[in-house]
Amino acid sequence: MSNTPDESRPTRRRTTVADVARMHADGQRIAMLTAYDHPTAALLDEAGVPLLLVGDSLGEVVLGYDSTVRVSVTEMLHHVKAVVRGAPHALVIADMPFLSYGVSAEESVRNAGVFLSEGGAQAVKVEGGTRSARTIEAIVRSGIAVMGHIGWTPQARHALGGKVRVQGKTREQARALLADALAVQESGAFAVVLELVPEQLAAAITARLDIPTIGIGAGAGCNGQVLVINDLLGLGEFTPRHARRYAEIGAVIRDAVTRWASDVDQPSAEEAAPIPLDRDL
Ligand code: KIV
Repeated sequence: MSNTPDESRPTRRRTTVADVARMHADGQRIAMLTAYDHPTAALLDEAGVPLLLVGDSLGEVVLGYDSTVRVSVTEMLHHVKAVVRGAPHALVIADMPFLSYGVSAEESVRNAGVFLSEGGAQAVKVEGGTRSARTIEAIVRSGIAVMGHIGWTPQARHALGGKVRVQGKTREQARALLADALAVQESGAFAVVLELVPEQLAAAITARLDIPTIGIGAGAGCNGQVLVINDLLGLGEFTPRHARRYAEIGAVIRDAVTRWASDVDQPSAEEAAPIPLDRDL
């Protein structure tokens, strides 16, 4: 048998932002999932998910905080590194946590840079439309790819009224959201997440943009979809209305652990190393 690599088999390389633009131009739907740890990232990468977002939803679904606002750069970085090590093929996008951007352009660029230079991510995500336009522009100008995020932006939860709710319901709000989307595009972002936006408005925004929209609770008219992996897998107590569940992993874990715990007093013979003692203790 020859040891020469089979050149007829395409080797899978890491997805790039240029690939995302190509997928968009080809009318291919873009799939993005969140990932927070090495084993999950490896499974999602193996399954061929092209975009992995290390979302600051980390704070709520993994770290047990009551809001994403609590998440720090150090915490995000720890998880970005694990995901990058687990996913050699996906484009890994690091979510910039609350106030790690937007205070000054210098600080925003420096923090974004850390996710690439230390974390190994290939892009960052920033919340906010017109209010974040200058920040996105500064980060893009420094050579870092940025994904925008408008609509329901969890870091602005308190400013948006505290309760998770669909954004852009009135004509005035819809116009403001379109202005947000255009500002994000103008600033040089390669894609934009539309979260909790009415379906028709999301479709209208998508039609007006040259960059792809990735929806979550924004209907079928976006160029791609993103979900929090825990919601898709049934891992956690609460599943938002927009999240389709494809598994009940929480129940599987609970059942396996309960069965194991009830077996601890009777380990099987195969679990022990049958090495006889050659002398008395
Ligand atoms: O933090 C996150 O998981 C997100 C997605 C919901 C887009 O921002």
